[in-house]
Amino acid sequence: MTDVTMDKIVSLCRRRGFVFPSSEIYGGLGSTYDYGHYGVLMKNNIRALWLQSMIQERDDMVALDSAVILNPAVWEASGHVAGFSDPLVDCRTCKLRFRADKLDDAQCGKKPSKKPGEYSECDLTEARQFNLMFQTQVGAMEDASSTAYLRPETAQGIFINFKNVMQLARRKPPFGIAQTGKSFRNEITPGNFLFRVREFEQMEMEYFVPPGEAERWYEYWIEQRLQWYLDLGVRRSQLRVREHGAEERSHYSSATSDIEYLYPIGWQELEGVANRGDFDLTQHTKHSGTKLEWVGQEGERYTPHVIEPAVSIERIFVAMLVDGYDEEVVADRDRTVLRLHPEVAPIKAAILPLIPRNDDMVAKSRDLLQRLRRRWMVEYDDGGQIGRRYRRQDEIGTPWAFTIDDQTLEDDTVTVRDRDSLAQERLSLADVPAWLDEALQRPWHSPKP
Ligand code: GAP
Repeated sequence: MTDVTMDKIVSLCRRRGFVFPSSEIYGGLGSTYDYGHYGVLMKNNIRALWLQSMIQERDDMVALDSAVILNPAVWEASGHVAGFSDPLVDCRTCKLRFRADKLDDAQCGKKPSKKPGEYSECDLTEARQFNLMFQTQVGAMEDASSTAYLRPETAQGIFINFKNVMQLARRKPPFGIAQTGKSFRNEITPGNFLFRVREFEQMEMEYFVPPGEAERWYEYWIEQRLQWYLDLGVRRSQLRVREHGAEERSHYSSATSDIEYLYPIGWQELEGVANRGDFDLTQHTKHSGTKLEWVGQEGERYTPHVIEPAVSIERIFVAMLVDGYDEEVVADRDRTVLRLHPEVAPIKAAILPLIPRNDDMVAKSRDLLQRLRRRWMVEYDDGGQIGRRYRRQDEIGTPWAFTIDDQTLEDDTVTVRDRDSLAQERLSLADVPAWLDEALQRPWHSPKP
């Protein structure tokens, strides 16, 4: 079985242009990344699949896109100004900074085989609270009244729009508001590639329910979200659900479960599903003076409870790359292949003229390219040996390659090669769009054990 390390994933992402360290020509900026061509396409697919399952395929959901910088009172009400912090310790010797509650996972700056505080030269400060929100100024004045924050979660933008949506979308609990967008956290110990970064794209949904139904919907959303990953081919053996103990839960939560993935760094939170109760709507009602409640036709009223599945594209991106990464030897040659679900794969099919200098093959290939690209992200590649072109497509996870060869010129058929099984079959050029359409709808299971 392939040993998948984070280094292998980072190296593949770099080599194939999925992800680059940000500001690289200036020496980078800690834990900040830029996405290249295939990274953007894969991220777009993940977001689109989330929106499809959350909004397109449901009757009880609406979309929202709230601002990144909100009135700072929002963050007072939500508890983030007072409490969105991690305990921090500094080492006076090595000048490194650690999370006081994660010292066991950290390495001493002077002696990496030891944990901070264990080496004789370690000189740790007392723990102090460090707020993770990035501050900024709004407008030309730089005083306390202009202080604002980059949002550390998208969720609050949803709560403060509850009344707008209730009135205009004419919704009745249970219903949900879903949004995707950038969130920012000044993490003390970021790292492990995209797993913990300071700028990431969240996909959050707040599901408003009658108070008596909260428990049921909490269980429902854990199941739904787990199934979403399974439907996208993530292996069941690499996923688990872990319920938080009371001491671990956020201030707003009465129950939280993490859907965890077995990353190369161990079991870690992929997505959280929280029962937030009526905490947020009650807080914003108190602080804003606007009543955020459900009022029925008969005058019945209550503050809905909220179930929240929340995840970042980054965590899914890494989980899917890890789950898909494979190495094998085929005909005495090493091959690295990303066994991604076809819906997630950045490129759905490659179109390859066998002999790039043959004008007829190129013309047929280009014609197929034009027909396919109207509907799918496909790629034409005529650079180098056919074997190398296949390898390149394997590494970016392209599920199928259509090769135009001598026989195509005779009978208008092409070879289609399957990324996972390496099986090849012949089909008529005219049938390729219908074939691809059907292939993309087939259930896909990872061939990895
Ligand atoms: N609204 C609830 C909320 O934000 P959270 O557990 O702090 O809860 C939700 O974050 C999800 O956002 C996590 O499960 C994870 O997928 C993602 N996430 C949080 N911090 C992250 C970071 N620094 N880098 C990448 N993803 C992060």
